[in-house]
Amino acid sequence: MRAQIVAGNWKMNNDLAMTETLITELKNQKKTSDAEVMIAPTFTNLWAAFQALRQFPIEVIAQNMHFAENGAYTGEVSAEMLKSVGVQTVILGHSERRAYFNETDELLAKKVDTALKNEMRVIFCVGEELNDRKSDNHENVVENQIKNALFHLDANAYENIVLAYEPVWAIGTGETATPEQAQEMHAFIRKTLSNKYSNDVSDKVSILYGGSVKPNNAKEIFSKPDVDGGLIGGASLNANDFFAIVNAI
Ligand code: PGA
Repeated sequence: MRAQIVAGNWKMNNDLAMTETLITELKNQKKTSDAEVMIAPTFTNLWAAFQALRQFPIEVIAQNMHFAENGAYTGEVSAEMLKSVGVQTVILGHSERRAYFNETDELLAKKVDTALKNEMRVIFCVGEELNDRKSDNHENVVENQIKNALFHLDANAYENIVLAYEPVWAIGTGETATPEQAQEMHAFIRKTLSNKYSNDVSDKVSILYGGSVKPNNAKEIFSKPDVDGGLIGGASLNANDFFAIVNAI
């Protein structure tokens, strides 16, 4: 049985006071699903979030990190720093990082290595742009993202990898992939992993869908056999909406 996960990516939203308020609201929600729940506040609020959620089954995760262990990288944050404030899981390869901060597959491969070396879990994001889908190139794009950033790994590394399929055209746009489009790509990702590794590896990897998941569409998307949860942006900033999505699993 694969882990089912719903992770909230808060992006560059919520100062300290808002982080504390939203966490209080999240703690008051009733959880009726077995999904693992995670939230990714911004770096400056990770420690406060971790403390507020001690002994509470919501994991605090990071949105990004640097590949170097430490050193002269002004403005960056290392794996060790994240671990020292209680963070065990990091999102890597989000399309906003790829598009606005020029993160390439090669750079992401290094970040993945560093995270795994530090015994962290990685939520690795892949996804095509609208023109890739229009030109029917979406599977190629996603396959290459996976090959370039992850295929150097041993099979056992996948115990600590979660994939997130996030079509760029569906992020923050209100436009979701249809449940069928999500299922088709998730099945393709699983096949890509089983061709390279084994069915055992591909069967065990959780694959999340992200891109305008809302309370009113989550259930249908999550009902697809290869969709193991979601990476939620906008709707994760509202406690009721986020838990409606968590409970849709
Ligand atoms: P969205 O963002 O839910 O606001 O579309 C998803 C994401 O970027 O992870």
